[in-house]
Amino acid sequence: MTRRYLAAFAAGLALTVSACGGGGAGSGTEGSGSEGGADGDITVGVAMPTQTSERWIADGNNVKAGLEAAGYKVDLQYANDDIPTQSQQIDQMITKGDDLLIVAAIDGTALTSQLSAAKAAGIEVISYDRLIRGSADVDFYVSFDNYNVGVQQGTSVLQGLGLLNPDGTPGTAAGPFNVELFAGSLDDNNAQFFWNGAMDTMKPFIDSGKIVVKSGQTKIDQAAILRWQQETAQRRMEDLLTSAYNDGSKVDGVLSPYDGISRGIITALQNAGYGNGGQPMPIISGQDAEIASVKLINDGVQYATVFKDTRKLAEQAVTASSAILEGNEPEANDTETYNNGVKVVPSYLLESEIVTKDNIKSALIDTDYYTQAEVDAGQAG
Ligand code: BGC
Repeated sequence: MTRRYLAAFAAGLALTVSACGGGGAGSGTEGSGSEGGADGDITVGVAMPTQTSERWIADGNNVKAGLEAAGYKVDLQYANDDIPTQSQQIDQMITKGDDLLIVAAIDGTALTSQLSAAKAAGIEVISYDRLIRGSADVDFYVSFDNYNVGVQQGTSVLQGLGLLNPDGTPGTAAGPFNVELFAGSLDDNNAQFFWNGAMDTMKPFIDSGKIVVKSGQTKIDQAAILRWQQETAQRRMEDLLTSAYNDGSKVDGVLSPYDGISRGIITALQNAGYGNGGQPMPIISGQDAEIASVKLINDGVQYATVFKDTRKLAEQAVTASSAILEGNEPEANDTETYNNGVKVVPSYLLESEIVTKDNIKSALIDTDYYTQAEVDAGQAG
């Protein structure tokens, strides 16, 4: 079997093995061989950020399964969202002689020395989902159109408020609506893309006064949540409620860049009496279609999420890996957008989709990402 054939097979398998989006939790360290591999002794080091979020567990499992089906060994590591741990794991992958690295960085600016060591050892690096910044030694980037993810987040808030219709035409709602803004972790290159997309989308409504950010916190560094932590988001929402909404005014919408952050925001709002029969829950966005949040959307608590099919991302990572390991250039579909401060990194970008209660079935269940029972239970597996 040629490697190319195996890669195609792996791509199909990645789709099959990951019928469940959440996937199962892998252990922190996994190395394993595979049957019938191309060479049998090529190892790909896969560095993932954390197992506290479902999406990264699913990413790790899907990448591993796809690579193994293509005949590679896989050295999969999770770093507990701890920067030194991730740096050490990558150092060890290089020392052990892994043949290729796939890295989803915790801090996209913290891996420069690891990447130059990889380069010196002749190991190519694929940046996975999050761009590694400040290094000439990133060979390829697989991700989603992250600016558009932000556009979709902003759009979902505008649609939920009735300021836009689902077809993008102006809605009939007049406002003004009180909307608060949250951003992701500033050391993650994606956070700025999500923010820019969302803010470009919402700005005309802020400028016209239809949206009011009552806290006045409209800068990304005021809105950012370090490491995308749910608890930090809950605390910030609590602070916003006590500081800007202690005069009887109510929050109508919250821009949130990630489902875990949305759940923190929801807890703060519920503790303050929202959604309990009196004051309705504000319109809240999200990202990743995490199962707990899909249930909240189905139950009418969270308004929307942005679904990024991590099965497809894993498939692209496997395809790019096979190309590189065969000595070929991986196929890019974007060679302009992702400048990491040193070079424009050739990228393969995938599309994402807004999911509300109305399309949970077509987007997530009919595509076998989740089953209806999982959505009802709010738990995958
Ligand atoms: C990813 C998002 C994810 C976030 C928090 C970002 O880099 O692109 O999908 O929600 O990290 O894990």
